[in-house]
Amino acid sequence: MAADTPTPSASLQGQHVLLCVCGGIAAYKAAELVRRLRDAGAEVRVAMTENAQRFVGATTFQALSGQSVRTSLWDEAAEAAMGHIELARWADRIVVAPATANTLAKLAHGFADDLVSTLCLASDAALFVAPAMNRLMWAHPATQANVATLQSRGATLLGPGSGGQACGEVGDGRLMEPDDIVTNLAAMPLRSRA
Ligand SMILES: Cc1cc2nc3c(=O)[nH]c(=O)nc-3n(C[C@H](O)[C@H](O)[C@H](O)COP(=O)(O)O)c2cc1C
Repeated sequence: MAADTPTPSASLQGQHVLLCVCGGIAAYKAAELVRRLRDAGAEVRVAMTENAQRFVGATTFQALSGQSVRTSLWDEAAEAAMGHIELARWADRIVVAPATANTLAKLAHGFADDLVSTLCLASDAALFVAPAMNRLMWAHPATQANVATLQSRGATLLGPGSGGQACGEVGDGRLMEPDDIVTNLAAMPLRSRA
């Protein structure tokens, strides 16, 4: 741990956290989240949607996680051994952060048309979603219904926070702070798995 990094109070020692990064402006905060997860003792692997890569490069997450980053379902080398299933099995916890309105909709409806949605569907790991979006996207009945569906299936909602947004508006829809995401994850006991 770097000398300037405060000792984390939350522990995720030895836990496997799969961080799924989606295409929202808060994707840059996911880089900090990788640091905080590792400070708490977690092993972190990162999967990105195609659109997430428009905001942050995979190299950033590779350097911070110390692991190769999956960016597509259609990776011939990784999929020779069904890598997405291996990754889905590996995860103790899946954290979708930032979770876009689009990916929340996919997850709520059981879509599996890209890497992140397929990983979430192919895993029985505890699912955490940390939405980040414009306040009106968040307040839209479609988004609210999708989140309620995910919660009814056992997913944990992290945030969103309230305040100033990148679009200049003020309201609900800010990504929960990385430290608070780690604290929430650590507070949730791991369920036993089949
Ligand atoms: C500059 C910019 C910022 C965006 N920020 C957000 C955001 O914060 N949250 C969100 O849900 N969508 C945001 N979007 C829209 C998503 O990128 C879009 O819905 C995309 O399809 C999401 O893809 P994904 O869920 O596969 O990552 C943004 C789009 C642009 C162009």
